Amino acid sequence: MGEKGTVDLRGKRIGILTGGGDSPGLNAAIRGATLTAIRKYGMEVLGFRDGFTGIFEGPDGIIELTEERVQGILTQGGTILGTANRGNPFQMVLTDEEGHPRRDASGDVLTKDRSAEAAARLKSLDLVGLICIGGDGTLRMARDFFVQHGVPVIGVPKTIDFDLSGTEATFGFKTAVQVATDALDRLRTTADSHDRVMVLELMGRYAGWIALNAGVAGGAHVILIPEIPYDPEIVWRRVTGRFRRHKHFSLVVISEGARTLEGDYAVAEVREHPDGLPILGGAGQRLRHQLEAISRREAETIRKSGGNPPESPEIRTVVLGHIQRGGTPLGDDRIIATSCGSFAIDMVARGKVGCMSAWSFSGPKPVPLDDALAEHFVDPLHDPLVTTARDIGVSFGSE
Ligand code: F6P
Repeated sequence: MGEKGTVDLRGKRIGILTGGGDSPGLNAAIRGATLTAIRKYGMEVLGFRDGFTGIFEGPDGIIELTEERVQGILTQGGTILGTANRGNPFQMVLTDEEGHPRRDASGDVLTKDRSAEAAARLKSLDLVGLICIGGDGTLRMARDFFVQHGVPVIGVPKTIDFDLSGTEATFGFKTAVQVATDALDRLRTTADSHDRVMVLELMGRYAGWIALNAGVAGGAHVILIPEIPYDPEIVWRRVTGRFRRHKHFSLVVISEGARTLEGDYAVAEVREHPDGLPILGGAGQRLRHQLEAISRREAETIRKSGGNPPESPEIRTVVLGHIQRGGTPLGDDRIIATSCGSFAIDMVARGKVGCMSAWSFSGPKPVPLDDALAEHFVDPLHDPLVTTARDIGVSFGSE
């Protein structure tokens, strides 16, 4: 045993991987875990390339993580280990020689469960722990490796979407909100100068946290999020109401996952691989078309009754996309990532495997992986920021 109640890890080996979309702070988490493993516990650290994929690739899939290797990565965006949005070992897609998915007679993609093979490979490497840094997809796989194969995993929560439970923060989120807020500040000047309605489409998949926070921080007049289906007529009234009060511009923030009551998500593309989620996109453009259709209809009605319709505001859409995920992490995200990465190694020493190194306002703490995977969406009725936004006159397109 090491310190009281901890396992002596000297000379032992630990693995680290990053999975899912990149998020500012991944390198800070890798560095935090690596330095703690080496300096505090005298361990050897192996990094797997491209999420779980690296486990299948023999020596080519592994990078030895030393103090020198993690030097200077704290401020870098992305991940030095690489990451993958596909390659779920529990559902590996079978491919032909050209790398295209193989299909059965009915056209369904063929998959194979290779998780036992991956678990055997990890065992042969004699790892005392596998640190899995990722969002819901990666943490779900980590949980399944622990439950089904006894792999000693420790999750570290990352996602710009902030759609994980059991943690007060996920690194990457604050940076994404800041980037989106900066974009809104810049759009405001154009909107104001040109008397336009500027619609900013933001990421966040099915959770509206980025749009809600950036919308409030950037003074948006309308915020549309997946959790509150919107009525385009209400958005139009809010926007034109401002024009009538001689405020000749409006800022609208819309989540990529926003939808009307009867509408669905705007899907830009469905991935060929079944282990990847659909690529969302186009919600802002769709809203523009909805508003323009209402504008045309109203103008027609006025014309038919002999009137002269007022000039309709020009509507423009901007999609911020992956700019929200790239680049240097904010200081706060570096702190959260470093702390949760470092604490993940302490958790191995304390035997807290099968858990996640979560963030709390008093520092990192272990929580069961199942807690992380409970749903975490904006609660339209009880979220204090929704209330504040409504109190200051922001419309969510539903009232
Ligand atoms: O989950 C993070 C996220 O950035 C979502 O907000 C977004 O919908 C998705 O990833 C995009 O993924 P990809 O980069 O694979 O298109």
